This record gives sequence, C-alpha cells and structure tokens, in this order.
Amino acid sequence: MDIQEVLTLADNLIFASTGKHLDHLQKAILEGTLQGQTYTKIAEDIHSSEGHIRDLGSEIWRIFSKEFGETVNKSNFRAILEKANFYNYSSAIGRDYVTVNNVNICSEVRGAQAQQRGQDRVCLDWGDAPEILTFYGRQEEENCLTEWMIKKCYRLITLLGISGVGKTSLALHCVEPIKSEFHTIIYRSLRFCPSLEEILTHCLEVFSESSIIPPTLDAKLTQLFKYLRQYRCLIILDDVQMLFAPQELAGCYQAGYENYRLFFKQIAEVSHQSCLMLLSSEKPREVAELELEHDTIFSLVLGSLGQASKQILRDQKLRDETEWNELIKRYEGHPLGLKLTAALIQEFFGGCVSEFLQCSPPILCEPLQFRLYQQLERLTTLEMKIINTLAHEDQPLNLSAINHNIQLSYPEFLKGLQSLNLRLFLKKFEQNNIKLFTLDPLLRHFLKHTISSE
Ligand SMILES: Nc1ncnc2c1ncn2[C@@H]1O[C@H](COP(=O)(O)OP(=O)(O)O)[C@@H](O)[C@H]1O
Ligand SMILES: [Mg+2]
Repeated sequence: MDIQEVLTLADNLIFASTGKHLDHLQKAILEGTLQGQTYTKIAEDIHSSEGHIRDLGSEIWRIFSKEFGETVNKSNFRAILEKANFYNYSSAIGRDYVTVNNVNICSEVRGAQAQQRGQDRVCLDWGDAPEILTFYGRQEEENCLTEWMIKKCYRLITLLGISGVGKTSLALHCVEPIKSEFHTIIYRSLRFCPSLEEILTHCLEVFSESSIIPPTLDAKLTQLFKYLRQYRCLIILDDVQMLFAPQELAGCYQAGYENYRLFFKQIAEVSHQSCLMLLSSEKPREVAELELEHDTIFSLVLGSLGQASKQILRDQKLRDETEWNELIKRYEGHPLGLKLTAALIQEFFGGCVSEFLQCSPPILCEPLQFRLYQQLERLTTLEMKIINTLAHEDQPLNLSAINHNIQLSYPEFLKGLQSLNLRLFLKKFEQNNIKLFTLDPLLRHFLKHTISSE
C-alpha cells in the first residue's frame, strides 16, 4: 500500500467511527508517521507545538485501537492497517463498507449515523459472500424474490435448490438493485456451523453503534428484534443445510443447533419490518410447517436455468450449437454442472459438444460427482432404498409402485419420501388426480450411469 492508500483507508475508518473526515493536522500526523518521522519533526513541519501534536496523535490511536480491537500506536499503525487491507479492504472497495477483523464498518453509513442517524446510504455487511462475476437469466425468480422482499414485506423467505443450482448467486444478484430499500443488509454463510449465539452477536455488532452486546442468548434475541422492528433490515443466512445432521431424516438439527429452529419461528411469528432469507438445499421442517400458518413466509425452489444456460456454454466457446439443448437437458439447466462440463468439453473434446454427448456411458464431470456424493452421504438407509428404486425407473411412479419393490410399512415409506421431498430430490407430477414421482434428473443420471457403473 502506498501512503495515499493508507491515508484513504484511515480516513474511511475515522469517518466510520466519528462521522468526520481527517482534518489537515490529523492527516499530517499520519503522513509523518508513515514516513517514519518523530512527533518533533511533524510538529516542526506544520508549525505547531509538539505537545498539541502528541495529544492529537494519542486521540487518533485511541480511535483506531477501538475499531481494531487491539492497541494501535505510532509504531504499529502502518502494519495494522496493511494487515486489515490485505484481508478485507480490497474486496470491500466499491461495496460501501470497510471491514476490520471481520466486522464491516459501513464507512459512509456509520459516519452518517453518527451525525444524524440518517438513512441515505445502506449499511452492507457481505461477510464472506462470493463475488458474483457472471449471472444470466433468472429474471422471473428475481422478480418474484424482489416482490416478496419489497412489496409484500415477507418476513421469512427460503430459497431452496440442490447444491450448485445458483441459490447464492441469485440471492446476491437480486439484492444488488434493491439494497437502498434496506437500512442494513447482512450476509452470513453457515458453512462452518456457527452457533446461533455467534450469528446473533455478529448481527448486533453490525447494528449497534455502542457495541454493548448482551451476554445471554435471550437478551441478544430481544436486542436483535428491537433492531428488526426499528429498521428495515435484510439478513441472508446461506448454507442452512449445514445445521442438519447427516444420516438423519432431512431437517433434523445437529445437537446444539436446535435453537435455530426457534429463531426461524420467531422471525416468522414476531411482528417486525425486516426479512430473513434462508438459502438451503434442505427445506427446514419448521419452514414447511410455518408456511401453512402464516402469509408472510414463502419459499422458492430453484430449478433449471433454462435457455440462459446457453450463455454459460457460449462463454466456454463451445461448438455444435444445435446440440446445446441436449446438453442443457442432460444437466437439467444446472449452472454449476454446465459450467464444469463446458470447461471439460473445451479441454478434452476441443469444444465439440456432439462428440462429448456420444460418449457411452455418459460422462458426469468429477467435481459435480463429488458434490452429488456429498449429498447422497447425508441420506438415511431408508431414503437410499427409495432413491435406488426411482433411479432405475424411466417413467414417473405412483406411491404403491415405488413401494412395491421395497416393501416398507406405509408410515416408514412416507417418512422416507417426505424427507427426500424436503431435500428436493423428488419431482412430482399429477395424472388423473394421482401423484407421480421421479428422481431429480441430475441425481438420477448420477445414480444410474456413474454409481451403478463403478
Ligand atoms: N444465473 C447464473 N448465471 C451464471 N452462472 C451461474 C448462475 N447461477 C449459478 N451460476 C454459477 O454456478 C455455480 C454455483 O452457483 P451457486 O450460486 O454457488 O449455487 P448454490 O448456492 O445453489 O450452491 C457458480 O459458479 C455460479 O457462478
Ligand atoms: Mg450457495
């Protein structure tokens, strides 16, 4: 970082904390510090008294120490700012906030809040959200989510879909144009299973200026709901499926994580003006139940990317455009599957889609197989029995036809089917008032051609 970059970062931090930009004396102190000058020399250069410069210096270090949560002084100032910049700041540029120790200090907003508690800029805390570089299609889904968030003010929205179908991408992409509707937006992934307390603490750190976080879970919840009532906030929790125990029926929380269930329920039931968006490849059971009772809770299941998938193939400069529909059909318009496969076709088949499609047995690229394996590993033996039956059926089957092969008691069989449904592994049809089921085509392809041919 050059001196100017350090000064800009420092100015953002001071503004975030005090609502005021660095004045010329403070700037001179920082500039002198960065050039390795003593207080005496700095004071001399700007024709001020050394005592006054020392006092101003201590005040600046005090503010930085508070923001960084560690002692900042004249000798470690540059190193600490460069560390903060290395980890966070570069990705935050253009995203309306400065991040320090994983706490995003919304530079402009907090500054404005400090001045007038105004709301002309939104406080964004994207946490570890991936940057969305390419995004195609999904206009309908985007319109739907936007309407739910903005016009209908739904309190709990769940975006569901199998891994790699584009939940994270869609959520982040659709929030971008409407972010000014919210006072605060927070994104957090639950990938590493943080406890509810950790998540609440983090949200409160973002919300509260005084940074006094209550010690108990109950008090944290009370304080959070106070903010959710007072301000219109959007909290996006991604990878919610990680809270559920593997080899248990879908939606069963791991030990120690059950209080998330109560939190989601409370978000749906308590009156406030904010929105919690959950992204998950398994539908939480309580969401399914709450949807029946409340009209402020909705879920959207993400399916094929449709014709917009062609743009992904175009990006990889694939050939044989007449065969693209066949490729998209094989991957059910699964963006990640298509992206990875397009790269494979480019690398090993010279971009020739027809040659790839002629391979027998059909090829499913390794990284996608790995993801599907991971999902299958979470299933119970009961569920595996059902999907193994469905994997080898070309036509949709009704309940008794599926159970004919496995011969389970009906309550057991329904439990398994219900769980697979929450995992979004089933496709449902209706024919003459009879419900028919097939397996998600991508999973079926995997089970039929990859696992069984090993
Ligand atoms: N609409 C889209 N347009 C282009 N690429 C997409 C789209 N949706 C998803 N992708 C790509 O597919 C991959 C998986 O998307 P992601 O949002 O992480 O899926 P999920 O969150 O459902 O697991 C990413 O590499 C992403 O870039
Ligand atoms: Mg995701």
